[in-house]
Amino acid sequence: MVKRKTIFTCQSCGTTYGKWAGQCDSCGEWNTLVAETNSEVIPRGVGRAKGHVIELVQLDGISIETSRLISNLKEFDRVCGGGIIPGSATLVGGDPGIGKSTLLLQVVGMLSASTDCIYISGEEAVDQVRMRAGRLGLADAPVDLASATSVRDIMASLDDANPPHVVVADSIQTLYVDNLGSAPGTVAQVRTSAQELIRLAKRRGFALFLVGHVTKEGNIAGPRVLEHMVDTVLYFEGERGHQFRILRTVKNRFGPADEIGVFEMMDTGLSEVVNPSTLFLADREGEVSGASVFAGIEGSRPMLVEIQALTAPSTFGTPRRAVVGWDTGRLSMILAVLEARCDLTFGSNDVYLNVAGGMKISEPAADLAVAAALVSSLTNVSVPPEAIVFGEIGLSGEIRPVSQSSARLKEAQKLGFSEAITPKLKGKKTESKPDIGNGLIQKEIGHLQDLLTLLSPRTTGSPFTAVGGGA
Ligand code: TYD
Ligand code: MG
Repeated sequence: MVKRKTIFTCQSCGTTYGKWAGQCDSCGEWNTLVAETNSEVIPRGVGRAKGHVIELVQLDGISIETSRLISNLKEFDRVCGGGIIPGSATLVGGDPGIGKSTLLLQVVGMLSASTDCIYISGEEAVDQVRMRAGRLGLADAPVDLASATSVRDIMASLDDANPPHVVVADSIQTLYVDNLGSAPGTVAQVRTSAQELIRLAKRRGFALFLVGHVTKEGNIAGPRVLEHMVDTVLYFEGERGHQFRILRTVKNRFGPADEIGVFEMMDTGLSEVVNPSTLFLADREGEVSGASVFAGIEGSRPMLVEIQALTAPSTFGTPRRAVVGWDTGRLSMILAVLEARCDLTFGSNDVYLNVAGGMKISEPAADLAVAAALVSSLTNVSVPPEAIVFGEIGLSGEIRPVSQSSARLKEAQKLGFSEAITPKLKGKKTESKPDIGNGLIQKEIGHLQDLLTLLSPRTTGSPFTAVGGGA
């Protein structure tokens, strides 16, 4: 028997220590060590009792294809991989107030037309959930509600001969198991509560949704361990000031990861955005310098977003580099390549980069669009508003091809764009030419220098015009 003593567990990475410290040595996070007893954290061995021999079967055996539950909230179903798998456990993470409760209440509201759904809130009273449902137009949906936080009670209610089909537990940080000494929200509580509910979901065959708040560093609080335990991890993200919300698949055992669903937060709840490109480009101004349209791919869908750059003489000793929606390191790299390979000087300028609409982009394919916006801002020459841009930039300034070019071009054409600045696509000629089939004039470039030539107002015959004088 392990002697009961207090140990300190990092709430971010799960490392345990004998003594409290301000910083976790393992992950470097500050103020994440919380006191727990070792019996909660250190698993005991299996002991002497012998287990049963497990039965082995062939991989090519016949298994019953479980049919997915379809919520008819198409963006949500797609993010889940085409519908919800019975018996699966899904973690929905996101900042507090981003709309997780709203989303899941809408999902169970829609699902309840054909399936039995239970919504358990540990954060709100039943009346508050009812009020919210009223606002979402779901006041009459046959969803069973409960306000509870004890995992033991919840399990007793769900471990029924007729289990429900879908259960939402909102949120995992409020649930507790009464035989653990630590407070709700600590690693031990979150892990044990999730484990018990997931086990029950698998045994009884209901789909379980766990809501998890994200810490300010972006981890689902109480922590990475949860991501391993569930089948699917969805992140709900968005900028506070914007009404767009993006539901992103981080992990999915039953479908593709990196899929996204786009929603708009209205006063009547979340509404689906079927064509996000239209929305992200809605407020675009025509011919301005420092803006380019990037044809990106998010999951399986192409998406056009506007990239905005602003360069302005700095009043600081060290000029500022500020980025919203993209990677700061990547911006520095592109600035360095533009300076080293194209003789441009950003040195004494502050540089601001913004992905319009609150979208976050992680694709390297955005490099060229970022470079185009930067060059455009610096030289005050606009990128033509009817052109889309994509391509990855290498350190020597070469433009590298990216995946799914045809899907990107097709989306651009669908939204009425007429030109595309792209890397050299394999096996094609290099000069600009009316492209066969997709109706876009493609300008394939091999080096950043070519981009500069395209954006130079002095080039004769250039379709690119200077805005307000130019450089
Ligand atoms: P909520 O789902 O409670 O967030 P979470 O569960 O992730 O903490 O969403 C709260 C926010 O959503 C709140 O700021 C108000 C806004 N909201 C609307 O704009 N319209 C609505 O119909 C609802 C229900 C919420
Ligand atoms: Mg909530």
